[in-house]
Order: sequence, then structure tokens, then C-alpha cells
Amino acid sequence: MKDRAQWIINECCLLATMTEEPGRTTRRFLTPPVHDVHAHLRQHMIALGMDVRVDAVGNMRGLWTPTNGGSRRLILGSHIDTVPDAGAFDGVLGVVMALEWVRLAREDSLALPIEVIAFSDEEGVRFEVPFLGSRAAAGIFDQSLLALEDKNGIPLTISECVVDPSARGFVEIHIEQGPVLESEQLHLAVVFAIAGQTRVNLRFTGQSNHAGTTPMHSRHDALAAAAEWISTVESSVAQAAASDTPGLVATVGKIATQPNAGNVIPGVVDASLDVRHPSNHIRKSWTTQLVNDARVAAQKRGVVMESAETLNEAAVEMDPYLSLDLKLAVEAEGIPVKTIVSGAGHDAMVMARRLPSAMLFLRSPGGISHHPAETVLVEDVEAALRVGRRFLAGLAKQSQ
Ligand code: HGY
Ligand code: MN
Ligand code: MN
Repeated sequence: MKDRAQWIINECCLLATMTEEPGRTTRRFLTPPVHDVHAHLRQHMIALGMDVRVDAVGNMRGLWTPTNGGSRRLILGSHIDTVPDAGAFDGVLGVVMALEWVRLAREDSLALPIEVIAFSDEEGVRFEVPFLGSRAAAGIFDQSLLALEDKNGIPLTISECVVDPSARGFVEIHIEQGPVLESEQLHLAVVFAIAGQTRVNLRFTGQSNHAGTTPMHSRHDALAAAAEWISTVESSVAQAAASDTPGLVATVGKIATQPNAGNVIPGVVDASLDVRHPSNHIRKSWTTQLVNDARVAAQKRGVVMESAETLNEAAVEMDPYLSLDLKLAVEAEGIPVKTIVSGAGHDAMVMARRLPSAMLFLRSPGGISHHPAETVLVEDVEAALRVGRRFLAGLAKQSQ
């Protein structure tokens, strides 16, 4: 299977060249390179004998129906959108790997229908709302997010996106995006929970003024307020994570200042806040605390701070039975198995609201992700293929 594993890696690298920005991989929800990815995946799906469609929210879906029966399908998938300047494997690996799992199921004549979904949006970069694809598939898409009408004035409806409610479950294969498997020299992990996440947009409004004539004591510098707050976020969260709140992480990843000129005191700063922890209570109370810290840093400088929460995604446990099936398949392949909490969000956390869901992680060399240096090892991809073959055979047997 080593050649297939290498092929999977090459495919991911090829798909990474389908991008909005030459020279680096950036592929946001429903931008032109998504169509190139669809065209490419469609060819593979058709070659595997799958029925292919793109649903109303842009998810590409292929269904393999074996001729020898099996009534309840298994759903596999991950996302094909990326962060700006992304690596080649986040999301896409899970889609390409899913197609290879279908190939194995075909080779083994398994009586197990399999649907593969390439979710259109998971990262939420374009509209600042993540999981648009999987929310639609899980039937929990907030219709108010869509203000679109077709040329006949018919609103875009996405009800047809909802997955078959009788499906066996949903499995997502993904890179770990963290350092745990590498530090323990392990190939694979089974995820037992995904940490919740909150995202907040904050605006600091001060007063733009002349950098040369405005005395220091009479300034209302929005960027100075934001900078003090960002530093507080990092230090207070690092301290908590190292003492009584392990696993807590918070990030200010995006900042824009106006007018952004060297000789003007910054008048307005927009910043993002991302807070994560496996406990919903801890995540929520820390979000409140950090937003309050922003208000305090602003008030010190006569700056006004406003905030709007854009995401409040609860922590999710994976299905214990489907996860156990995955774990047993890993062990049966003679591969040591680890169970792990995912700090990253995944489509599986949304799909879990509709179907029993499980996740298989592959080691991330260097723990690097959301960066062009993101990669996978061929031996880990091969291990995931072997596990897939065994896992699917087990499921097919259970349904007989
Ligand atoms: O941000 C996340 O956790 C994911 O990679 N979208
Ligand atoms: Mn990602
Ligand atoms: Mn991802």
C-alpha cells in the first residue's frame, strides 16, 4: 500500500496548486479554484463508480453503492477550503483518503454503501462563519446566513443538503495539527472529543490625530489599547494553561488598524479573539474575562471597545461505539493507538449533531499546520489505509 499512500500525498500536493493566489495555497468558500478541485475530484469519483453531485451549499458528494447490497451508508469526509497560505493536507487529506477507502471497499466487495463529502467551508475565512458546509449537511444551517436569490428571485434553499438520516455514521480522517503524536512517536490517534471554540470580533475606537503634534497625555490611541490587551491575552492565558487550566488556548490572529499610516495616531482597530477549551464552562468564562480585559485596556486610554461574538461552538464528544470500532481496527493492525482531544475544530463536530461521528488523526510532523510546511509521512498514510480497510470490513460485517 506504500505506492497508494504516496499517491495520496501527491494528490494533496496537486490540489494545493488550485488556489486563489499564485505561489501559495488559499482557497476560500466557493471561490473559482473550488471549481477546479470539484472537477478533479469528480473524475476520481466517477472512476470509482460513484454517483456525484454538488449540493446547494457547494459540498461535493459522491455515493458508492455496492451491487451486493448494504442498506445503511457510512459517510466519510472533510473540507476542501483552506486558511490563507495554507498547507496541503488540512481537510484535503481526509477527502482524498476517503476516496481511497472507497477504492479498498470496492476491491474487497464490501456490502457497505459509502458517501464521501468534500465540505465546501470549514475554515470560515470568507464569511467569518465556519462550518457552512457541514452545518448544511447536518441540517443545522441558520437560513439567515443566506441572503442569496437565484436569477428567478428564488431564495437559495439548502434543505436538500441534509444527509441521509439512516446513515451508519460519519468518519473524518484528518491530520492532528498538533505535536502529541509526534512527541509520542505514534502514527495514528482516535479522537474522543473536540474542544469547543468561541470567536469574537472586537473594535477599539479612539481618535486619529497628528503623530507629531498631539502630546502623549492627550491621545486616544486605539492600537496602543489593542496591543496592551493582546499582550494580556497571551500572558494571562499562558499562565492559566500552565497552572490550573491546562488545555486553555486563546489567540488574537487578525488585526486591522485605521488609517494605518506611520504619521497618524491609530483611530480604529479591529481584532479577532479565538478561545478554546474542552470544558464549555471554562471557555465561556475565559471569553468573558478576556473581553472585559479589552474594555479595561481601552478605558485607560479613553478608547471605546465594542465586541460581537461570531461563533460559540460547544465541545463535542465523538460517538463511543464508532470510535471503538476505529480503535479496534487500529489495534488489530498492530499499531499502537492513542485517544486524544482535538483542539482544532472539524466538520465532525457539526456532523456529530446529526449522526454518530468519529475521527482518525494522522501524525503532523513538527506539529505544524495552517502553514505551508504542513505535511504527513507516507508510513502514517499507509497505516491509515490499512486501518480503513479493516474498519470498513468490520462495519460491512456488522450490517449483515
Ligand atoms: O480553526 C480550526 O480549528 C480549524 O482548523 N478550522
Ligand atoms: Mn484548518
Ligand atoms: Mn481541517
